[in-house]
Amino acid sequence: MATVGILGGTGPAGRGVALRLASAGHDVVIGSRDAERATTTVNAMDVRGGTVVGASNEEAASCELVVVATPWDSAIATVTSLRGPLAAKTVVSMVNALAREGREMVPLYPPRGSMAAQIAFALPDSTIVGAFHHLPASMMQDHDSGLEADVIIFSDSDVARTQVASLVDQMPGLRAVIAGSMSLASAIEAFTAVAASINIRHRVHSYVKIAGL
Ligand SMILES: NC(=O)c1ccc[n+]([C@@H]2O[C@H](COP(=O)([O-])OP(=O)(O)OC[C@H]3O[C@@H](n4cnc5c(N)ncnc54)[C@H](OP(=O)(O)O)[C@@H]3O)[C@@H](O)[C@H]2O)c1
Repeated sequence: MATVGILGGTGPAGRGVALRLASAGHDVVIGSRDAERATTTVNAMDVRGGTVVGASNEEAASCELVVVATPWDSAIATVTSLRGPLAAKTVVSMVNALAREGREMVPLYPPRGSMAAQIAFALPDSTIVGAFHHLPASMMQDHDSGLEADVIIFSDSDVARTQVASLVDQMPGLRAVIAGSMSLASAIEAFTAVAASINIRHRVHSYVKIAGL
C-alpha cells in the first residue's frame, strides 16, 4: 500500500481523492499551508479503510507519491518550493486552469499548453502524471454517490502512468484509462471546461466515461 501526499488537499478535490484512496486501503497525508487547518479538515471527513492525516504541504511532499490539488494559479509556486522533496518521485497533477465567464467555464492555456507541462518544467527531477481532472469533487466525497467514472491518465513515463492507473483502479467508483503521453495534457485539461459548463447549464454533476473500451 502506498502513502500518498496531497498538496492543497484541504480543498474539495483533494478531500475526494483522499477519501477514495483511503477506501482502497491506502494511507493519505492531506497537506496544507496550515497543518492545523489540515487536521481540522481531516477530523470532519468520513474516512473508511486506510488512514488520512492532516499535515503541512512539506510533510505531504515527503510521501512516496504526491498529488497536486491546489488552484492552478498557485500550483507552480507550491511545487517549486517543494522541488527537493518531490525529486525522483511521481507527482500527479489534477490541476485545471479554468476561468468562469457568465454561465460557462473556459479553459486557460498556460505558456507550455497545460498545467501538467508547467509542473513538469518546474520539477525537472520528478516524473509527472496527469489524472483526476474531470471528477466531480462532491461525488468523490460522498461514499454513496454511485460514481462510476473513468479517470483519463497521461504521462511521458509508461512506468509512472501504469503505477497511477493501478492505484486508480483500486479506488471505488473509478476506472483508469491511460490515454497516452504529455502531448495530450492540453486537450485533457481543457475538456474539464466542457464538463464544468455542462454542469452549470444542466445543474448536474456529470463525469467522463469512455464508451467502446
Ligand atoms: N473541485 C473539483 O471538482 C475538481 C475536480 C478535478 C480537479 N480539480 C482541480 O483540483 C484543484 C483543486 O481544486 P479545489 O476545488 O479543491 O480547489 P480549492 O478548494 O480552491 O483549493 C484547494 C486548496 O489549495 C490551497 N490553496 C488555495 N490557495 C492557495 C495558494 N494561493 N497557495 C497555495 N495553496 C493554496 C488551499 O489549501 P490550504 O489553505 O489548506 O493551504 C485549498 O484548500 C484545482 O486545480 C482544480 O482545477 C477540481
